[in-house]
Amino acid sequence: MRKAIYPGSFDPITYGHIDIVNRACKIFDEIVIIIAHNTVKNTLFTVEERIALVERVFKDNPKVKVSTHNGLTVDCANDLGATSIIRGLRMVTDFEFEFQMNLANKVLNDEVETVFFMTKVEHSYISSSIVKEIHALQGDITKFVPKAVEEELDKKRK
Ligand code: COA
Repeated sequence: MRKAIYPGSFDPITYGHIDIVNRACKIFDEIVIIIAHNTVKNTLFTVEERIALVERVFKDNPKVKVSTHNGLTVDCANDLGATSIIRGLRMVTDFEFEFQMNLANKVLNDEVETVFFMTKVEHSYISSSIVKEIHALQGDITKFVPKAVEEELDKKRK
């Protein structure tokens, strides 16, 4: 069974992430989306809220599971029996960070491979922060996130 993890903040999940997961589903039998306990980022949604949102978004896709992890991503892959880490590449600016992270992960555990998916051009500029900023300024985010995410963002604004 080809199992992969897709780690990230997902604060919140966007169509950019969803597209990566849907394409990865064609290659892997199971994908576990790992909601990172990111100590550097000040997140809008709690880990539990982000898990619930991702579960709602992928409720009809039996290949996709959601979990969280507090330590190293390679250890998470190992614990779950996953052989690959999925990452999305947007603009060239993502490359340097991803290259560095990939090299560090290879030193930590050479058995785990990172598989990169190029984002579609229409998602190449989206980030969770941009979506939150547009929403906070009353902009239309329907092109960037599913309805469920928009609803949760609305609740945070109240
Ligand atoms: N479409 C849209 N947006 C995307 C995207 C895509 N396909 N891919 C990434 N993004 C955006 C995210 O929304 C996020 O936006 P934000 O900064 O506004 O929140 C941004 O790109 C960063 O993406 P993300 O994948 O969430 O990365 P991250 O930097 O938050 O998380 C971890 C990186 C958690 C995977 C990494 O820090 C990690 O593995 N940590 C665990 C500890 C560890 O193992 N460290 C050693 C690794 S070297």
